[in-house]
Amino acid sequence: MLKKCLTTSFILFSFIISAVLITLSACSDSKPTPDRSALAIDPHSFANLTQVQMTHVQLDLGADFNNKILSGDAILTLKYNQKAAELILDTRALTISKVSGFCHNKWQSLDFSMGKQDKILGTPLIIQNTEQCPKVKISYQTSPEASGLQWLDKSLTASKQQPFLFTQSEAIHGRSWIPMQDTPAVRVTYEATLHTPSVLRAIMSAHNDPDTPLNGEFHFAMPQAIPPYLIALAIGDLHYHRWSERSGVWAEPPLLEAAAREFEDTPEMIRATEKLYGKYPWQQYDLLILPPSFPFGGMENPRVSFITPTVIAGDKSLTSLISHELAHSWSGNLVTNARWADIWLNEGFTSYIENRIVEAVYGKPWAKMEQVISYQALLEEMKDLEPADQSLVLPLDGRDPDDAFTDVPYTKGAMLLYFLEDRFGREHLDTFLKSYFKQFSFKTISTPEFLAYLNTNLLQKYPDVGIDKSNIEQWLYQPGLPKEAVIPSSRRLEKVAQVIKLWKTHPFAPNVIPGKNWSSQEWVYFLTNIPKKIALSDMEKLDRAFDLTHTSNAEIALAWFPLVIQNHYQQGFAALEQHLIKIGRRRLITPLYKLLAKDSELRNWGLEVYQKARPGYHPLAQGTVDKIFAEKK
Ligand code: BES
Ligand code: ZN
Repeated sequence: MLKKCLTTSFILFSFIISAVLITLSACSDSKPTPDRSALAIDPHSFANLTQVQMTHVQLDLGADFNNKILSGDAILTLKYNQKAAELILDTRALTISKVSGFCHNKWQSLDFSMGKQDKILGTPLIIQNTEQCPKVKISYQTSPEASGLQWLDKSLTASKQQPFLFTQSEAIHGRSWIPMQDTPAVRVTYEATLHTPSVLRAIMSAHNDPDTPLNGEFHFAMPQAIPPYLIALAIGDLHYHRWSERSGVWAEPPLLEAAAREFEDTPEMIRATEKLYGKYPWQQYDLLILPPSFPFGGMENPRVSFITPTVIAGDKSLTSLISHELAHSWSGNLVTNARWADIWLNEGFTSYIENRIVEAVYGKPWAKMEQVISYQALLEEMKDLEPADQSLVLPLDGRDPDDAFTDVPYTKGAMLLYFLEDRFGREHLDTFLKSYFKQFSFKTISTPEFLAYLNTNLLQKYPDVGIDKSNIEQWLYQPGLPKEAVIPSSRRLEKVAQVIKLWKTHPFAPNVIPGKNWSSQEWVYFLTNIPKKIALSDMEKLDRAFDLTHTSNAEIALAWFPLVIQNHYQQGFAALEQHLIKIGRRRLITPLYKLLAKDSELRNWGLEVYQKARPGYHPLAQGTVDKIFAEKK
């Protein structure tokens, strides 16, 4: 229903825009033809892309922590392909005070208006630019509720000493802090000056020098062209631990040592990936540990991945997240999906490469466990998905991309590559991937372009393998998993499966659960595959033997707390409450709130916990959980 409404309103909206534009062009012959191509190239941007594209962004912004506002100027350098009377930019909840164009060697003020607001896309900023100025400057400020920013009071940080700000621009939130063509269809270099409180440090997805003194002003330059969703900023009490010439970690002081130890294999991961796919293209690879309200596990901002602290488990068990974000340095950042419907080109390739890095650094048995767990999660998730949402190319027109990303682009996407590996052999696939990254370096790519390249450079090169375009199209455009998919298996998890069998017949036999030696992956597999209904006495025994309620491993908690909720295991509630208040990573909290919301006895308790937790959550997480409780029981 919601989907249908959104689609309808979007079509209606596009219709209105085109009607307005047709009227405009009919009114005056002298005006260049308006351009609605952005809606065709990227349905999530208002920009008139075929006429004009931005090539460079220059920011000069002040961060006002008291009022939760960024304000200043963005200067866009523009390249015109066709005559364009207007420049249309994406914005969301921005207040624009002035627009000027640099024409004939001086700045002159330009007329502008805000178009009609769209719930998903934000509001187009329409700038009259008949002289086609090569630079346009927008003076603006953000809203305290900007969807791409989280302003954290010091109480929500690790040290509790200083406030924190971070951006999260993917998919379409960059427009809530920079007025620009917010679409992966364009690439920009950028530079920025940031004014901050003088005790804080600003970090961007650009060159960062750890020796820059703290004086309230920071300058950044990113000389490599990136899609605008990768422009990123964090400001906080950030310190650096260096592992190598080109790699280190930024974190607040209380987390720095633990993060440096947990992720010390990062330089080795970089070397392993370079061996597979060619030289690391971004010079520097750092991590930045964010506060626990960061709504994602990680975000692949170039030169500095943003990372949730919930993967600091103490035993390196969750470091595949780092290999995932590192892998995006090739798939996503170097070769970028042209539209969000093609997100599998970013996330599917990345999930495959992530697993290859894990295999290279931690060995095959470990990598296999992770494959099996992801595969199981995919099957589970697909049970609730509409058929159209089970294809790799997603039907996103008129929808918020945030609502549509599931395990499908990640795990089904990776499974397409496991399938190609199985049929063509690892060596041939590796050669293909290396050439793919080279061919499309610093470019965007759509699914049909990928398919054409695959066809010429792999499928037709080895015709004896007997895979043609139509086999691949099934993966891309049909629901579910094709019959030919390679189903992963893991010896270590097969052993756990034996324990589960025993558990089913002898409800609790603690001595046969070798849990003390289990990795978090084995625990996750055990807890997600035992029957959901467990006698309270067995819950107690299990908890007493392994203290699962107080686990410091976020993935084990994600598998254990559903059992706590479904079995009304009271002893677990206090810890569950603390967990939900402390952590704002959507993947970890959403399933728990969903279970609470649909349990008539626990719904009110869940809502009370949410009310306490909500102020500390990111706007994206707030939106997701608000929706869960807004839905009828
Ligand atoms: N690029 C994504 C995060 C993202 C995706 C943000 C879509 C906005 C829209 C990032 O690389 C990612 O996939 N993170 C995962 C971790 C991963 C190991 C599956 C996450 O946050 O859970
Ligand atoms: Zn990713």
